[in-house]
Amino acid sequence: MAQDQTLFRSATLYRSQRLGLKYLTAAVVLFGAMILFGFLASLYYLFPGMLYGVFDFSMAKTVHIDGLVIWILMGLMGAIYWYLPKELGREVAGIRAAEIFFWVFCIAVALVILTFLFVQTGKADFFTLWFIQQGRKYVEAPIWAAIGITLVMSVFAYNIIMTCVKARKVTGIMWVLALDMVPLIGVYLDAFSHDRNMSTDLYWWWWLVHMWVESTWEVLIGVIMAWVLMDVMGTSRKIVETWLYIEVMLVLGAGILGLGHHYFWIGTPEYWLSIGGFFSALEPLPLLGMVVHAIYDAGEHRLKTRNRPAYIWITTEAMLNFIGAGIFGFMMTLPQINLFSHGTQWTASHGHFAFYGAYVCGIIAVLYIAKQKVSGTQLLDHKRWYWGYGLLNLGMVGMVTSLLLAGMAQAFFERAMGGSTLMAYTVASENPWYVSGLWARSGFGAVFALGYIMLVYDLLTAVKKVPMPADYPVEVHRLGTEAA
Ligand code: HEM
Ligand code: HEM
Ligand SMILES: [Fe+2]
Repeated sequence: MAQDQTLFRSATLYRSQRLGLKYLTAAVVLFGAMILFGFLASLYYLFPGMLYGVFDFSMAKTVHIDGLVIWILMGLMGAIYWYLPKELGREVAGIRAAEIFFWVFCIAVALVILTFLFVQTGKADFFTLWFIQQGRKYVEAPIWAAIGITLVMSVFAYNIIMTCVKARKVTGIMWVLALDMVPLIGVYLDAFSHDRNMSTDLYWWWWLVHMWVESTWEVLIGVIMAWVLMDVMGTSRKIVETWLYIEVMLVLGAGILGLGHHYFWIGTPEYWLSIGGFFSALEPLPLLGMVVHAIYDAGEHRLKTRNRPAYIWITTEAMLNFIGAGIFGFMMTLPQINLFSHGTQWTASHGHFAFYGAYVCGIIAVLYIAKQKVSGTQLLDHKRWYWGYGLLNLGMVGMVTSLLLAGMAQAFFERAMGGSTLMAYTVASENPWYVSGLWARSGFGAVFALGYIMLVYDLLTAVKKVPMPADYPVEVHRLGTEAA
């Protein structure tokens, strides 16, 4: 630990990388808080009436899902601040502003969480919108905090674009990243909408919710994956950039009109049924591209890597992104099926699996890359990381399977058989398949929480320094000696 701390302040890191480490640390802390509130939220299902009037389900869930969005955003930003100076060979432009805004971000998040915990709700007026919460799922943060997030992201975009300008260099990866800043900030502006018509409000709200997670963030993780593969496998830039272009083309091609899968039942015209059905059915394609991308690289290098945990986590990212977002999303994306599955625990099953596969696994890969640099070893292949890996994956797969069972029971008993009446809802919520699914979700949630503890323990403790063996492929070897 002491050794890690000395290296933490090592002069070999760019300021931007140190900022990246701060963002990654904040992300891990918030990840823990998110799990805590997720677990708490799951208990209300088992013990209705728990904490009634003190801290209700709605607030536990709000902290859980807003915490999720923010820590993943911080994790993605941390990964990008880590790699940006390496990519362009210079310190990031405007790094001072980025450092200041990191603290603005942290303070804002802490104040919003305190408000959610202790103030919770307010009257339906502008004061509440500005200072307590906006009541729109995933973007409940009050207006002042939403302004803060917009500023943080604007500084982030400035850092990325101006570093290219100052370095007089734009790689293929940087083009993709810089262009992605426009929709990243653009669609976030919807967090400020005050539409009183629920249909039009939802219409635009989905632009933000769907576009962030299925388009702009997917591009960010694609960029990060390209860097990670070059870093830990020595994969050639030509290969990762070619795949990145293909993925981005497919993500934008399918993801933009795939938005239609949220327009089936909110009062939009009927043509969205076929547009949404068709384009969202194409959405798994880019995710499949990512899997091919990772497997192709594995074949090229016979699984030789200088950082095994990072490599395995990034490959897991590719696989589970495809399964959680692609397959679990596809299952309920056709209007004929969505009619029955809409808004059930089936949706929550997909939501958990997709976020975990697409982003959580990728961010953990970057945590291990930072860990390697900080602990100064050429080859990171200690055994202890298996615990976090095993428990987190077991916990998540268990949770999403339980939710899928519960959701299918809802779709069948409440919707298909019961005809969606209030009575059918009540009967279905006592159905043994549904109830046992919810108990199993909390059980596997606890396994997931244990996995988180093992992950943090592994990241905080020192590892033995290992030199690179002589029989590693030339590219991986070269990277290993560079890292020393
Ligand atoms: C990385 C891990 C996790 C991610 C990415 C995640 C993500 C999410 C998302 C996206 C939602 C909203 C789903 C929707 O309304 O359709 C949600 C809700 C929820 N999550 Fe998690 N979560 C995670 C971990 C956990 C854990 C460990 C538990 C504990 C058992 C948990 C329990 C819940 C509960 C109870 C809800 C409310 C669902 C509802 O409205 O009925 N989550 N989570
Ligand atoms: C990284 C990618 C993805 C993430 C993080 C993600 C996450 C989510 C979340 C959290 C929800 C619940 C939203 C809510 O009501 O609160 C959702 C809904 C949905 N997702 Fe995804 N998703 C992803 C990709 C996909 C893909 C590729 C498809 C289709 C092939 C898909 C199809 C759907 C559908 C149809 C719904 C609506 C479910 C309903 O009607 O209740 N998603 N997604
Ligand atoms: Fe979507």
